[in-house]
Amino acid sequence: MKIHPSFYASVLMVASISSATAASMPAKAAICASCHGAEGNSTISEYPSLAGQRALYLKRQLQAFRAAATNDHQNGRQDPVMSAMAATLSDAEINELSEYYARQEPSAASAVNKVNREGKKLFLGGDLSRDIAACAACHGADGKGMAAAGFPAIAGQHQDYLSAQLQAFRSGKRKDDYQGMMQDTCSKLTDDDIQALAQYMAQLPHK
Ligand code: HEC
Ligand code: HEC
Repeated sequence: MKIHPSFYASVLMVASISSATAASMPAKAAICASCHGAEGNSTISEYPSLAGQRALYLKRQLQAFRAAATNDHQNGRQDPVMSAMAATLSDAEINELSEYYARQEPSAASAVNKVNREGKKLFLGGDLSRDIAACAACHGADGKGMAAAGFPAIAGQHQDYLSAQLQAFRSGKRKDDYQGMMQDTCSKLTDDDIQALAQYMAQLPHK
């Protein structure tokens, strides 16, 4: 299991979470905080922020990570770190954690602030000539996703995490998406498209 060096530093940070926060926090969230940040705002670019993410989406991802752990990575969402984490969670804990992170305030901070014009064009309008659907059709023009459909918010997520996910959908490493929606879209994206889109999404305000 590959653990980022700052994992250990952030364990110390977890110890300093205020008691008021700790009181409303599910017990298992203490361990999540070491990678995903206190209250789900991750400061490490490989680890996604969870604060304000759609609850239904979070639930599905945790179930998918857990499924991958129990069927020897044949199905579900495969990630050595997260599958191991999710394997220890009951259905009730998955629900509780998903509701908890969905309720948290995303932090305003974003490392990227330059709007990528190619990314913006593709995100909002797609590309008819290449049969690429507009990302905004499902993720919203503001990138905040759709709660009822469980379409995830992508606004303000870390650029590195976003580009890694688009590559994973494209290569089929991440293949648990509903009706292959993301695999289909990403199969048409070039490396340049992925960089442009990830940069555009990362600078969208996520509050
Ligand atoms: C050691 C670090 C680490 C710990 C601890 C950890 N995670 Fe993760 N988490 C990750 C990484 C890395 C990913 C991205 C995996 C990938 O690339 O698919 C991730 C992804 C996720 C995602 C998917 C987010 C998205 O936008 O699709 C969810 C949900 C999640 N983690 C929840 C949790 C919960 C809940 C806990 C505590 C029970 C937890 N994680 C503990 C590292 C960690
Ligand atoms: C038809 C609807 C649809 C379209 C169009 C679409 N998406 Fe998605 N997207 C989804 C769904 C559903 C998921 C969740 C997949 C899963 O459950 O693994 C997702 C997941 C993602 C994720 C992973 C989020 C995370 O937190 O891990 C990213 C990034 C993303 N989409 C970006 C894009 C981009 C960029 C485009 C346009 C090129 C796009 N999407 C077009 C429906 C769509």
